[in-house]
Amino acid sequence: MQVDVLLGLQWGDEGKGKIVDVLCPQYDLIARFQGGPNAGHTLEFDNKKFVLNTIPSGIFNPKTLNLIGNGVVIDPIIIKRELDNLRAAGFDPVGAGKLVLARKAHLILPTHQLLDAASESKMGSSKIGSTLKGIGPTYMDKTGRNGLRVGDTTLPDFKERYEKLKEKHLNILAHYGEIPDFKEREEAFLAAIEFIKTIPHVDSEHLVNQYLKDGKKVLAEGAQGTLLDIDFGSYPFVTSSNTTTAGACTGLGIAPNKIGKVFGIFKAYCTRVGGGPFPTELEDETGEKLRQLGHEFGATTGRARRTGWIDLPALKYAIMLNGVTELIMMKADVLDTFDKIYACTHYKYDGEVIDYMPYDINTIKPEPILEELEGWKQDLTGIRNPEEVPTALKNYIAYLEKILEVPIRFLSVGPDRTQTIELHA
Ligand code: GDP
Ligand code: IMO
Ligand code: MG
Repeated sequence: MQVDVLLGLQWGDEGKGKIVDVLCPQYDLIARFQGGPNAGHTLEFDNKKFVLNTIPSGIFNPKTLNLIGNGVVIDPIIIKRELDNLRAAGFDPVGAGKLVLARKAHLILPTHQLLDAASESKMGSSKIGSTLKGIGPTYMDKTGRNGLRVGDTTLPDFKERYEKLKEKHLNILAHYGEIPDFKEREEAFLAAIEFIKTIPHVDSEHLVNQYLKDGKKVLAEGAQGTLLDIDFGSYPFVTSSNTTTAGACTGLGIAPNKIGKVFGIFKAYCTRVGGGPFPTELEDETGEKLRQLGHEFGATTGRARRTGWIDLPALKYAIMLNGVTELIMMKADVLDTFDKIYACTHYKYDGEVIDYMPYDINTIKPEPILEELEGWKQDLTGIRNPEEVPTALKNYIAYLEKILEVPIRFLSVGPDRTQTIELHA
């Protein structure tokens, strides 16, 4: 058996949560492998809507186990809140034994968040636009070999370890200026540490590999998107983890030859939240129309997402980096009322026409070269079968498949679980 991977090909918010929820009945284990509560994964079914930050999106399937892998950074306060909200809605994955945490996953401390905020405010207009969840500082402590991990919470000297790391953070924070009061947050953190001890801790590398040995099916759920990858994204306007398929190997403890299918998710257009380059961005009425029709406001922070046309050089790059075997096109319904839609096929860049993403898109802005395509001018939200897909949309799909050289397996025509069409069996 191999691990299938599902991840975003753009700048996040492609609809990963929805599709993991759709696919999870076919899997025994759903595993988050990187990122943290900077993610907001939305699921809708039976007129209910849930936003998950740390918990994998397989949580609503009674038969699936959900693992938060070693590559994830966990905020105990947020995961507790997520589970409290789920319980209030009638779901109790911990009680049902459907959620486990990797011992090697790192913990986000209250002072990591203060560091995130201090660093962002220092950067002024060149700030990254972080979600301010403490992601960057926590991964810095991980690679700096200072971090605290889930497994440490059960050690007798956990509190001393916590104090030591906090002290280090306070010294750094003192350089930034006044340190905000975080007493209440610290109390909530320490209480939440007690709470996460009640969730089973596992060695994710052994768990996942044992699942494969036993012939069980595993799906790795990405967070963020490929263009936010720490190595290959639009650095420094990125997140602090590897959001690509390789991140699933290090974030769960699986060998590269154990990777099976790679589902790459993208929107029929493009969005980005936070700072950084966005070649196809539309800062006009059309961009506003995409934002309103697509409800493009962040699931975690509520921030307005920037919008633009689909960027094919960027998508080709993402497909290459991830070894995508099947594509999933989301939010096609958002384009229902457009007479014409546009796809960026090349960039004009530094006096040349290129069809790849160049090294420096921060100081030299690539100018998109757009191809015009016919809109379908039809409400897609009620269609459920491939035969009902309008011709102009079939043409758009065929056009994308030809350029991207990967089949589009699923088409999503609305936020609900049922608004999903399998195009190729
Ligand atoms: P994720 O972070 O990749 O899981 O995506 P988000 O949940 O942050 O953002 C996707 C948003 O689009 C959510 O509000 C979803 O409910 C919504 N959504 C997902 N698929 C579709 C779709 O096909 N059409 C429409 N209109 N909305 C969708
Ligand atoms: P999901 O999983 C969209 C963006 C932030 C910021 C940059 C760095 O829901 O797709 P960070 O908090 O990681 O330091 O922020 O990355 N970002 C996301 N954008 N979707 C996400 O997750 C994101 N997680 C982080 O807006 O630009
Ligand atoms: Mg999201």
